Amino acid sequence: MSHDAIESFWREERRYPPPPAFAAQANVRDPAVYDEAARDPEAFWAAEARGLEWMTPFTRGLEWDPPFARWFSDGRLNATVSCLDRHVAAGRGGKVAYVWEGEPGDVRVLTYRELLAEVCRCAHALRRLGVAKGDRVTLYMGQVPEAVVAMLACARLGAAHSVVFGGFSPDALRERIRDSQSRVVVTCDGGWRRGQVVPLKANVDAALAGETPVERVLVVRRVGDAAGAVLEPGRDVWWHEALQGAPEAFPPEPMASEDLLFLLYTSGTTGKPKGIVHSTAGYLVGVASTFRWVFDAKPEDVYWCTADVGWVTGHSYVVYGPLANGATSLLYEGAPDWPRRDRFWDLVARHRATILYTAPTAIRTFMRWGEALPAAHDLSSLRLLGSVGEPINPEAWVWYHRHIGGGRCPVVDTWWQTETGAIVIAPLPGLTECRPGSAARPLPGYAAEVVDEEGRPAAAGAGGFLVLTRPWPSMLRGIHGDPERYRTTYWARFPGKYFAGDGCRRDADGHYWLLGRVDDIMLVAGHNISTMEVESALVDHPEVAESAVVGRTDAVKGQAIAAFVTLKGGVEPTPERAEALRRHVAHKLGAIARPDAVYFTAELPKTRSGKIMRRLLRDIAEGRALGDTTTLADPAVVRELRERYEHA
Ligand code: WT7
Repeated sequence: MSHDAIESFWREERRYPPPPAFAAQANVRDPAVYDEAARDPEAFWAAEARGLEWMTPFTRGLEWDPPFARWFSDGRLNATVSCLDRHVAAGRGGKVAYVWEGEPGDVRVLTYRELLAEVCRCAHALRRLGVAKGDRVTLYMGQVPEAVVAMLACARLGAAHSVVFGGFSPDALRERIRDSQSRVVVTCDGGWRRGQVVPLKANVDAALAGETPVERVLVVRRVGDAAGAVLEPGRDVWWHEALQGAPEAFPPEPMASEDLLFLLYTSGTTGKPKGIVHSTAGYLVGVASTFRWVFDAKPEDVYWCTADVGWVTGHSYVVYGPLANGATSLLYEGAPDWPRRDRFWDLVARHRATILYTAPTAIRTFMRWGEALPAAHDLSSLRLLGSVGEPINPEAWVWYHRHIGGGRCPVVDTWWQTETGAIVIAPLPGLTECRPGSAARPLPGYAAEVVDEEGRPAAAGAGGFLVLTRPWPSMLRGIHGDPERYRTTYWARFPGKYFAGDGCRRDADGHYWLLGRVDDIMLVAGHNISTMEVESALVDHPEVAESAVVGRTDAVKGQAIAAFVTLKGGVEPTPERAEALRRHVAHKLGAIARPDAVYFTAELPKTRSGKIMRRLLRDIAEGRALGDTTTLADPAVVRELRERYEHA
């Protein structure tokens, strides 16, 4: 598509009016909504749920048999009707659902009408491959429109999808296929990443070698010959052939509210992956409502959530949330530094994106690349910025606000988890005050607390454990095949309360400051110090790009602080610099937080979703054998660190 074509296309696009359900629902621009929701949360959520399309309206609200919740259980619906059919039926079929850009620069536009037709054709194809209501289907794909189509096609016919991020290894894929007992896999021949082909189909072949529950594989031709994919006769079939001639209508399967919509395996920073179970109605209520409150997308908005559909952020805020609201999304296949490090800003500028939702790890990378790159592009279309995935350090928040948002866009920091399904703690932009580094307060309808070791409310300003004290519609319904692990992981630490696993501090004004996973809190000479605070202090130093801090066993202090530091381009790692950084932290946080050791490294070990794997850094700092590294994005990073610091 030429620049002019994109331009006139967006002019057209801005004519479509908002969905009526969207316009008619409770107005969260009024601060009274917090109190109203708190007075009767069930009535509040029921009103939200009525904004979906129901085949059989529900009469029941919450049924709570702790720790097992059911919401709207006597209702029937199909998620795709709220996401697709209702918009087409209301005359908005011509509105764009996705503008997709491939890494090589190819562009595809899918309207709501076209998306619905594709979903129906894919549902027919899946049914012919033997997929039936109640089955699980594993998706192992790149960030292509067919990934969204396949997810919705599963939902259309009543099967659950289990999306496995396309960066995972064959072993990780095999384990997830086995746990979900999928009989069908949907994949691509390959995907584009930094100009290279990711061998998705070959990875599937490796994952299916030996004993497997998988009988059929549906393969999207994304890359073509360069992928070198080989189809196994009788098992594998090309997507374009399977969908050829399939009808563009497929009756939506009526599902009970509590029927499984999808399984999603958590990233495994802490060990064996868990298959998180999400229900149909509650999940959809959660993501549809929170998308509307937090992003408040208007018909003219062009919303871009940069997450891959392989993560929960992709499920909730690339697929179900935006679609339920009839929004227009950008979808991008590739890397932010391809062909140059300004690819994101080029995308924002050309498509006139108005809302950008991305992760702190990406923001810090952009900081490292310098503000000249965004400054060279017209980012004036942006009106709202979002952050998700980790605590955002105030330095990155301010940089994002200033250099990407031009100082005029609110930054909404959104705290939530795969398990919560939807955003839980975040400001309502324009209504709730945003403070750099704080996710503000729980959204209407949620109840959170910060508690101490004994489960008593922590004093204002004191650190503690974040818990959610009331069930919410999009909460996980369990861990696939392991109800006991569900109970012990989330509900046993503080009986009757959902334990999120995160440390948190609530200030006197009720703002929540997330402190990272509690496994990441260090106990240094009797003081609780969060790795996040020390990291934030380090990144505050003008020469530091990124840092990860861990505690290591210390005979005297219990734990001592080890800091892994990435310096900005051109800055040399020297012993003097290490000393200066130690002093800098002591100056900012007090002598107790002074790191005992500073290790310089070109990169930090991260999972493929961008989370720093502190567990591995702890292993390195302790001189232990490394734990499971299968979820690492780049194993070479750890090897190098190891070699350098083995004897430090
Ligand atoms: C964990 C959940 C939720 C989508 C992506 C991650 C951390 C997430 C924030 C935030 C502080 C955050 C927490 C949480 N986290 N967002 N805005 N501020 N921490 O999903 O892989 O299930 O990870 O990510 O530690 O528990 P996930």
